[in-house]
Amino acid sequence: MDKLVIEGGQPLSGTIAIQGAKNAALPILAGSMLASGTVVIDSVPQLLDIEVMLHILQELGCRAEHVGDTVTINTATAYQAHIPEKLMGQMRSSIFLMGPLLARFGEVHLYQPGGCAIGERKIDLHLEGLRSLGAEIEEYGDRISCRAEKLRGADIHLGFPSVGATENIMMAATLAEGRTTITGAAREPEIQDLQHFLNAMGARIIGAGTDTITIEGVESLTPCRYRVIPDRIVAGTVMVAAAATKGKVTLTNTRPAHLSSLIHVLRRAGVGIGIEGDAITVGTSARPKAVERIVTSPYPAFPTDLQSQVMVLLALADGTSIMKETIFEGRFKHVDELSRMGADIRVDLNAAVIRGVSRLYGATVEATDLRAGAALVIAGLAANGRTVVEQVHHIDRGYDSIESMLARLGARIVRSAPVPDNGAVPG
Ligand code: UD1
Repeated sequence: MDKLVIEGGQPLSGTIAIQGAKNAALPILAGSMLASGTVVIDSVPQLLDIEVMLHILQELGCRAEHVGDTVTINTATAYQAHIPEKLMGQMRSSIFLMGPLLARFGEVHLYQPGGCAIGERKIDLHLEGLRSLGAEIEEYGDRISCRAEKLRGADIHLGFPSVGATENIMMAATLAEGRTTITGAAREPEIQDLQHFLNAMGARIIGAGTDTITIEGVESLTPCRYRVIPDRIVAGTVMVAAAATKGKVTLTNTRPAHLSSLIHVLRRAGVGIGIEGDAITVGTSARPKAVERIVTSPYPAFPTDLQSQVMVLLALADGTSIMKETIFEGRFKHVDELSRMGADIRVDLNAAVIRGVSRLYGATVEATDLRAGAALVIAGLAANGRTVVEQVHHIDRGYDSIESMLARLGARIVRSAPVPDNGAVPG
């Protein structure tokens, strides 16, 4: 397994362009199945999760290739709607194919994506939504079979604004007969991006970005070329890294409006932020100030996907901060690792009390999930001495070569891959 080796203490400095958004690209790639023909998607990052999605699309019969940051998919050759258990298990986002395959083939057969390191992650809202559109769903153990001769528009209320359920229902409803209204919808920017993509193919959707989304069903969609939005979580990670290392970094290819809750928190911590068009400059030379209380909640509130990274900044702050996690129950796994680096953090149920220390120290730590891993990299950049982050494959699920991106900003970080065992006998 690869490791990242970081020599800490170097302030980040320079300019970096932010990659396209993984969480926008994944539903968009799944949504391409709604049309028959060649769909081209630009600004798709080279990530493990994206490659798994393309692999599944190939398994369904599509031709799919990823060259540079452009993905080309020919969906015309797709012939089946069974997602193999092995591929389903590799990535939770395979669930996004449920709505599109049901709409296109009238059936879909897949497996429960199961829990993951950060929590239980149920799919009941996805299933309820599709049932409301007329799908018959049978579950045998982990196997799920959905069938619908014709999907019909419906009024669907989500008891919790689930991002994935909102996207799955939106995609299925695109080809349903009549009008679907989703109330209590999630409002994340990635949902707006999905609306723009589907509308570019001829769908009739309004309201994404608000809590009510209306979809007028259409007969068919036409393939298009589309560019995904910049990744707000990768941008946020770099912003926090710049602040934690007391550096100065300009990020280009961002949507500052998508980062307003983070910008607000960073400003409260005393970090300087300048915004000019699609560029954000983050700079500070002072120790951060504690932020009394941050609560993760659905967009536009503070995102759970930036909770662990911001915790590193607060671990170095002057004073005591509280971070409350309300979205996923298992999302404090980075705390034990940060403690090994000298942080003073106590977890009480879903709240972490963070007493700032003046410095962190390098250690060997383990990335337990994607964003926890990103937090440990930031901690390593800010710490005194050498940090080794193990289990880097988790980080590779969301960051397109995190070490190259940070090295371009002056960080002393390298990837160390294990020497392959070729079975040779020495001597
Ligand atoms: C998406 C993001 C993920 C982010 C999360 C919350 C993608 C690919 N992933 O995940 O990075 O952390 O939003 O912003 O876009 N829930 C149910 N039943 C359901 C669905 C969800 O109870 O049917 C619960 C989940 O267990 C969780 C909460 O709702 O506690 C949020 O989940 P959801 O908004 O669906 O997140 P994802 O779409 O999985």
